[in-house]
Amino acid sequence: MTQEQFKQPPVGLEMRYTDAGDAPHLKAWLTDPTVASWFPMADSVEIEDAVNRWIAFYRYRCSLTATINGVPCGIATLYLQPYRKLAHQCEFGIIVAPEFRDQGVGTDLMKNIINLAREYFKIELLHLQVYAKNPAIRLYERFGFREFGCQTHWIKEDPKPGESDKNKKNEKIYVGRIFMELAITPLPEASN
Ligand SMILES: CC(C)(COP(=O)(O)OP(=O)(O)OC[C@H]1O[C@@H](n2cnc3c(N)ncnc32)[C@H](O)[C@@H]1OP(=O)(O)O)[C@@H](O)C(=O)NCCC(=O)NCCS
Repeated sequence: MTQEQFKQPPVGLEMRYTDAGDAPHLKAWLTDPTVASWFPMADSVEIEDAVNRWIAFYRYRCSLTATINGVPCGIATLYLQPYRKLAHQCEFGIIVAPEFRDQGVGTDLMKNIINLAREYFKIELLHLQVYAKNPAIRLYERFGFREFGCQTHWIKEDPKPGESDKNKKNEKIYVGRIFMELAITPLPEASN
């Protein structure tokens, strides 16, 4: 990875720990239709539930909020594991407000959350799951994340407008997810 491959952060971008007051922002971002297509929640009840579970990690100081001129524009969170045998690895989630996407905010959040994971929580391995067609995969690959698995029939949902096959009208469609991981410290061979 060279520095040139990464987007430069926008002017005024700052990082701070997430706090409970960021919940309404996260809810608004998850409710936006362009973002909703990359997350599995189907309605406002599921979004509310996801926001509550996601924001709750602020208590462990394992979640970062990006701000521009003091206004929250993105969140990245380590979903820390409660069990010691699993604590060397963890999944993370990331989202950037629609109006701030594609300007380098996600890149800066990624750099900072990887740093927090490695330096403070002594995490060795980060992993994530992402919809099979999400352009975010390019961002993850730029950081060195590699696919280690794929579930082709993860979600079963109504087709979005324009997606339905006219021969199979109203038939549900399946969407896959990809699992990706990155060793953020050198790892020995597994012994299994
Ligand atoms: C994925 C995401 C966090 C990246 O943040 P960002 O600030 O847009 O990212 P940056 O500007 O630093 O980097 C741009 C990269 O982000 C990805 N990206 C850009 N716009 C995107 C979008 N609308 N949706 C998903 N990924 C996008 C691409 O990989 C892009 O790289 P490219 O220029 O080679 O195409 C952000 O776009 C987002 O929140 N998307 C919607 C929600 C989502 O998909 N979250 C990830 C779920 S696993």
